[in-house]
Amino acid sequence: MKKILVTGAFGLVGSDLVVELGRKYGHDNVVLLAHETKRQVDFPLEKGDVRDKSTLAKIIKKYNVGQIYHLAGLLSVGGEKNPPLAWDININGLRNVLDLAVNHKCRLFWPSSIAVFGPTTPRDKTPQHTVLEPTTMYGVTKLAGELLCQYYFLKYGLDVRSLRYPGLIAYKAPPGDGTTEYSVHIFYGALKNKSYSCFLKKGTVLPMMFITDAVTGTIGLMEADPGKISVRTSYNFSAINFAPEELVLEIKKHMPEFKCSYKPDHRQKIADSWPKSIDDAVARKDWGWRHEYNLPRMTTVMLEKLKEKLSRMKSG
Ligand code: SER
Repeated sequence: MKKILVTGAFGLVGSDLVVELGRKYGHDNVVLLAHETKRQVDFPLEKGDVRDKSTLAKIIKKYNVGQIYHLAGLLSVGGEKNPPLAWDININGLRNVLDLAVNHKCRLFWPSSIAVFGPTTPRDKTPQHTVLEPTTMYGVTKLAGELLCQYYFLKYGLDVRSLRYPGLIAYKAPPGDGTTEYSVHIFYGALKNKSYSCFLKKGTVLPMMFITDAVTGTIGLMEADPGKISVRTSYNFSAINFAPEELVLEIKKHMPEFKCSYKPDHRQKIADSWPKSIDDAVARKDWGWRHEYNLPRMTTVMLEKLKEKLSRMKSG
């Protein structure tokens, strides 16, 4: 079988995605690309940077890659710290992967984000086709990236597929430098200190999703019959919507002693420019997307799994 290449393999999505891909297709068939290769993993692991096209080309040839999950990228908060770097990694990296996917006839997955939406977008049940005027560099790169993906599909027939990820909540990898990531940090705060200081204010409802659902949806989209894919920019992709205080209440059901304070900072403005809920009816109709985790179930699993991970780290 042709191999599957995953860039950003140690990130929040990659860390869970590679486990599921390995389970489905065999660990030898999933090649990980990362910046550091010191870690012990039971997958083929290559060191590389997505901006380095010739190294990428060598890896694709070496493993006879037929599918790429291109996950490497900077998030919203990191992108504001260094906008030129966000453009370089998110756009020039994507262009390299798009070109190589065309040359080597690979199927490609690339994640977009709710960050493509902006303050002028309808914020409730945001439709698939709507106003796209993002105000972060991250959102600008995601919007440009979506259009590039569609362009490569139209011009070169590249089988590229994409999802507009909401805030993703996971325990295997530490959270990245994003805005929705308070919803991951909060679990570390709860388990380590029984408290958390939230950088978004009460009432900030954002679209969110547990990682298991995100991985199921991502692989589901990649396995869908090409005839079912009607969107080649990026699909709206949604599960649950909540504000910080709703998550706090859920955590308190397990840990009544947990305390959360609110100190909104510059990240509040980013959150305020994004939708509260997303209409993903097109994904549900086209290729059968459905989510399984609601807020209580996600909270239960996060607390249980993160507790196990933290105690393993302590004893190791
Ligand atoms: N989690 C991302 C961020 O907040 C949203 O795509 O940057």
